[in-house]
Amino acid sequence: MYRKKITLVGGGQIGGILALLAAQKELGDIVIFDIPKAEGMVKGKALDLMQLRPHDGYDSDITGTSDWQDVVDTDVFIITAGIPRKPGMDREDLIEINLGIMQDVAKNIKKYAPKAFVIVISNPLDAMVYAFYKISGFSKNQVVGMAGALDSARFRSFIAMETGFSVQDVSCMVLGGHGDTMVPISRLATIGGVPVAKLITPERLKDIENRTRVAGGEIVKLFGNGSAFFAPAQSAIEMAESFIRDKKRVIPCASLCEGEFGINGYFIGVPTVIGSKGVEKVLEFDLNEDEKLELNKTINAVKKTVAETGL
Ligand code: APR
Repeated sequence: MYRKKITLVGGGQIGGILALLAAQKELGDIVIFDIPKAEGMVKGKALDLMQLRPHDGYDSDITGTSDWQDVVDTDVFIITAGIPRKPGMDREDLIEINLGIMQDVAKNIKKYAPKAFVIVISNPLDAMVYAFYKISGFSKNQVVGMAGALDSARFRSFIAMETGFSVQDVSCMVLGGHGDTMVPISRLATIGGVPVAKLITPERLKDIENRTRVAGGEIVKLFGNGSAFFAPAQSAIEMAESFIRDKKRVIPCASLCEGEFGINGYFIGVPTVIGSKGVEKVLEFDLNEDEKLELNKTINAVKKTVAETGL
């Protein structure tokens, strides 16, 4: 059987968990790529994961490398290359260093695997996914950013924690940029189909929305050195799985909008269908006046960060 090839560019905190989750789901064979200085680390992680195989019973091959030649024929890239936040930093503070890294990564992916589907996780996400798209010249179907999947998972978790009901039955979405201006759409949140507004007071719902907006920062503060990795990794794996298995899941993702929601030429978190063709469709729906105002704010924030890339 033909196995898909998944390359994780950046084998640090998120990269390591991505490899574990991709293997446990048997999404394909996995290459963990990192810079030469970190080659030993990714080779070690790969070997460690190979030795976990007897317990989990998966047959994915996992290798570590710092040689771009090894990414040839990759079907899906997940990019976490870059530095994470430290306490007191906004995601935007990472732009200078991570943009330089993204230049290097995008050029090499274009050279060695021009047909691949690419999921970007590196922050500031809205600018990094835009940078990858511009530098690589890939089509808009091939490039997507992981943000809304994570922000929505955080929103879902907080709603489940508040009500005590199963997180499995909580359905909701967060749109917009991956920063403090993101837009949790509480109006459409449900638990088992029951509108969340029937189950949580407006005041508590506002608190939950606000906690969602700064949920990444809450973890950065607790860690003191680095940012979240378990939930970000699983969020990206769900996107990769939808592509590999052509599931056509509808996931809030940073997708290139060309008119949808009145947005033009920017990657913004919107409900996105991911299937074997990559980003297959953005699902539009009517926003109310408050949501439109909030979306406008987030678009302006994204435009500002993107402008800093000079691309
Ligand atoms: N090519 C490949 N890998 C690179 C490159 C490059 N040019 N430059 C840096 N890296 C690698 C680092 O060597 C490191 O192993 O990227 C990895 C990043 O791992 P961590 O520092 O552990 O960061 P992580 O927590 O995984 O977060 C990565 O995702 O969520 C975002 O804000 C976060 O931008 C950060 C990224």
